[in-house]
Amino acid sequence: LFIAPGNAGTGELGNNTSLDILNFERVARFCLEKGIGMVVVGPEAPLVEGITDHFSSKKELQHIILVGPASTGAMLEGSKQFANEFMGRHHIPTARFLAVTGTGKSEGIAFLEELSPPYVLKADGLAAGKGVVILDSLDEAKEELVMMLEGKFGKAGETVVIEEFLSGIELSVFAFTDGESYLLFPEAKDYKRIGEADTGPNTGGMGAVSPVPFAGRSFMDQVEKMIVAPTIRGLREEGIDYRGFLYFGLMNVAGEPFVIEYNARMGDPEAEVVLPRIRNDLLEIFSTLPGRNLKGMVLDVDPQAACTVVMASGGYPGPYAKGKVIRNLDKIGESIVFHAGTGTSKDEVVTSGGRVLAVSSFGRDMEDALQKCYRSAATIDFEDKYFRSDIGFDLKARS
Ligand code: AMP
Ligand code: GLY
Repeated sequence: LFIAPGNAGTGELGNNTSLDILNFERVARFCLEKGIGMVVVGPEAPLVEGITDHFSSKKELQHIILVGPASTGAMLEGSKQFANEFMGRHHIPTARFLAVTGTGKSEGIAFLEELSPPYVLKADGLAAGKGVVILDSLDEAKEELVMMLEGKFGKAGETVVIEEFLSGIELSVFAFTDGESYLLFPEAKDYKRIGEADTGPNTGGMGAVSPVPFAGRSFMDQVEKMIVAPTIRGLREEGIDYRGFLYFGLMNVAGEPFVIEYNARMGDPEAEVVLPRIRNDLLEIFSTLPGRNLKGMVLDVDPQAACTVVMASGGYPGPYAKGKVIRNLDKIGESIVFHAGTGTSKDEVVTSGGRVLAVSSFGRDMEDALQKCYRSAATIDFEDKYFRSDIGFDLKARS
């Protein structure tokens, strides 16, 4: 097992390697040298840039299983315009939208004038989770549109998608597909803002819970019927060979599900609550991809609640310090500690990123699981540690 680039946690489970994952020739050579049989692609950039296409196009690499879609499928994440137009073609509920480029400024402004506040502006391409701007004032929205079209987000913002604002509560749903059948994984809810009560700037995610109390049977049946099944079918109808995880970022608007975004991968920190609940061997599930043998596989899901609390470096998502020694990792009995931004220095585990650890726990219910996460987060120590103490706050009244 090799992990690129890996961290102090993965280093205990396999071999970390500093491979440039966007250099596909190099990744392929590494796989051949080490006799690798499967590549699980974590982040979106290599998928959108075609790592799966690279492996399937070369005879000597075709025996290696790539878990993740080819670039056409990854466009569901790589281009918001593509995703919205795809949903339009397949009658999948999403926000009303208009995509504009530099020559379409006046149409964009006219569309903004039709909408009511708040206004949602999205850079079309990948912008590391920072490409969405939501504004209350029409004048500010118009100014932002112009700034985006003039290069605020570089190439990613050459096209801007303007969307109607969907008001509701978010959740994330995951399917794993071999291109024909799919398995629905347990849903999760993540907490993207840095501050308590969902305030302050967006982050990669500060915590997550699974299951989601408001995602009851009839709501999830609607999600599957109106969103998941038509997406998988639509991909097949369009000749897009999608094999891997597909993430549905959804808004529950007064009981009706709408798609806010697709991702071509698992989510983080959602993976840290969803995957612990899966009792199956994931390798067995992944191994169905080449033969498209997923049909008939059944997920064995732990009915307990799982929660995770992300421990971040003080200052994140702005500038933060690195290299702080992390203490008491060996004193955590009731949680699983997933490493993110960690490394080693002189045999000690140290911080090396903004989001440092995700501390996951099981419980009878969400509150029980969260109590364990918070006991662990209090025990683990590093200078200037920060975590949100209110994960699940909006669900407590509902559960
Ligand atoms: P995205 O990167 O597309 O997930 O957008 C980031 C965040 O912006 C989402 O998690 C939502 O909270 C919010 N958002 C995106 N699109 C909309 C929309 N049409 N209506 C309301 N909120 C949205
Ligand atoms: N937690 C959101 C994401 O992984 O994109």
